Amino acid sequence: MKFMESFIVSVGGSMINPSSVDVEYVKEFAEIIKKSDSPKIGIVVGGGQTARTYVNSMKSFTSNDFFLDEIGIMATRMNAKIVSSSIGRPEMNIPEDVNDAARQLMSCGRVVMGGTVPGHTTDTVSVLFAEAMGIKKVYNLTSVDMVYDEDPRKNKKAKPIEKMNYREAFSISLKSYTGAGSNQFMDSVALLIAMRSGIEINLMHGKDLDNFKNALKGEKFKGTKIAAD
Ligand code: UTP
Repeated sequence: MKFMESFIVSVGGSMINPSSVDVEYVKEFAEIIKKSDSPKIGIVVGGGQTARTYVNSMKSFTSNDFFLDEIGIMATRMNAKIVSSSIGRPEMNIPEDVNDAARQLMSCGRVVMGGTVPGHTTDTVSVLFAEAMGIKKVYNLTSVDMVYDEDPRKNKKAKPIEKMNYREAFSISLKSYTGAGSNQFMDSVALLIAMRSGIEINLMHGKDLDNFKNALKGEKFKGTKIAAD
C-alpha cells in the first residue's frame, strides 16, 4: 500500500478497548500500519474501558482530577503496549513524553505511545507529537463518524460538517466541555495546537478501517477535515 506521507494517528480507547481489548480490531489496524510505506508513523492510543473503570473506581477514594488523570494515563500506556506488540514491537519502551517519542520516531520510524501528563487527553498528545516532528497530518480514529454543529444525541437536526476551520472546531469543542471526563469530539487544547502549527486533523469513526485506508490514500472518506480556510 502506498501511503507515502508521514502521519500521526490517534486511536480512541473506545476502538482498542471498548469493554475489553478488541483483539481482532487491533490486528486489522496493525496490518494497515505494517503495510504502510510512510516514512514515519506515530501512533497515540487512548485508555478506553480500562481508563474509565480505573478512574471511576479511584473516585471512591479521591476527587482530585490530577491523580485521576494519572491513573487514566496508566491505562492508555497499557493499551499502547498491546498496539506496539501488534505491530511486531513488544519490546518497545512506551514513551512517557513527546520528546522521547520524537527521538524514538526519528530513529526507528514507528512509535506507539499513550498519555503524557495530567490535564489533557491523548488528542492533545497526538497533535503535540505531530508538532514536535513537523508532521502536518493527524488522523483521529474515534467513536463518532463526523463532527456535528450540535450534539446529535440532543438535537436530531444537528448537521454533520465535512470541513471546518480551527476556530469553528474550537468553539464546538468548548461548548461540550464539562470538566474531567467531558464528551468532546476532540479536546480543545489539541485544536489550539493544531491551529498554531497548521496541522490538518482528519476525524472519522475508527471502526471503519477501509474508510481510514481511503483517507490515508488521499481518497474520499467519510469524516471531518479540520484545517485552515
Ligand atoms: P483518553 O485520551 O483515552 O481520554 O485518556 P478520553 O478522551 O477521555 O477517552 P476516549 O477517547 O473518549 O475513550 C484517558 C484519560 O487519561 C487521562 C485523562 O484523564 C483521560 O480522560 N490522560 C490521558 C491525561 O491526563 N493525560 C494524557 O496525556 C492522556
